[in-house]
Amino acid sequence: MTDLLRVEYGLTLVGIETSCDETAVALLRDGEISASVVVAQNDIHRDFGGVVPELASRAHSRAITRAIREVMEYAEGVSLDGIAVTSGPGLAGPLMVGVAAAKALSLSKNVPLIGVDHMEGHLFAATLVEPVALPAIVLLVSGGHTELLAIDAPGIYRYLGGTIDDAAGEAFDKAARMLGLGFPGGPEIERLAATSVGPVTFTFPRALAHHGLDLSFSGPKTAVVNYLRAHRDADPAHVAYAFQEAVVDALIIKLRRAIKEGFYRSIVIGGGVAANTRLREETARLAEQTGLRGVIPPRALCTDNGAMIAAAGAFRLARGDVAPLALGIDPARELAAK
Ligand code: KG4
Ligand code: ZN
Repeated sequence: MTDLLRVEYGLTLVGIETSCDETAVALLRDGEISASVVVAQNDIHRDFGGVVPELASRAHSRAITRAIREVMEYAEGVSLDGIAVTSGPGLAGPLMVGVAAAKALSLSKNVPLIGVDHMEGHLFAATLVEPVALPAIVLLVSGGHTELLAIDAPGIYRYLGGTIDDAAGEAFDKAARMLGLGFPGGPEIERLAATSVGPVTFTFPRALAHHGLDLSFSGPKTAVVNYLRAHRDADPAHVAYAFQEAVVDALIIKLRRAIKEGFYRSIVIGGGVAANTRLREETARLAEQTGLRGVIPPRALCTDNGAMIAAAGAFRLARGDVAPLALGIDPARELAAK
């Protein structure tokens, strides 16, 4: 029998996510998203080209109460089974805001609190699309993480490889900054790359392409700096295009290798960078070529959101994995040991 990773029917949870720069709250009812609020902080961090932790904490504090209140309007008369909250990995201050709010809500509603791993949340976004046939190969690519995992059975993760330096999203953000684009950089690079006309006559390196399942993005980033220095009249759209291709290709090379080296039924992608059109196209193509089922969540479920935390929380709750009210944050939490 094929093992499936799927949403828990019959459970209703609130999911709270504040690990980085989105204050996100959602209500997940019987596997369906009844309400979802995502308050972004892009305007706050734009001038800095990256997330400033202290400013993020304050913005979460300002936004969280209202976000919860808005979502709880949809929970009236509904029997809640739990409050799921990201307890790590992420930025300490921002995590504390979400965890404190989740504790208050759990106390006031008298329902269990569930501490969720942010990356398990990104993975569970896929289950909101369809049940995932296991074993699955999973590529999680966000602003802080880039990792390739095997899921052998529900909740059993094996670390196969990951970045040895910058995360994929971080690389997009840094490259965008060098091109004078806004934050977050991924969508900006994607937009600019789409305007590229004519042949792009240069490429950036696919680091570590020839062996193993680890990735590196500091090389392509430096290559962009060097290219812009050497070509003062460079076409920014061509640079964005070449950079995006380099990152996506490097990720697909590793996915393809991992699939060759193991037995899988599905390919899952998740995390903010999985919102990238080129990565989505290439993942779909790889799935087709290898005969695996490709599960590619809609963009809004790839970037940080509360529904994915509620989905992972439901999975944990169904297994009795409830947190004490003393739940602490774990900024360096790891889903699978390296
Ligand atoms: O998962 P996420 O929303 O937050 C973290 O957990 O970090 O991922 C945010 C990252 C940012 O680095 C952002 O630039 C990147 O995801 N990102 C993208 C796209 N949309 C967001 N990267 C490439 N293409 C996109 N369309
Ligand atoms: Zn994330």
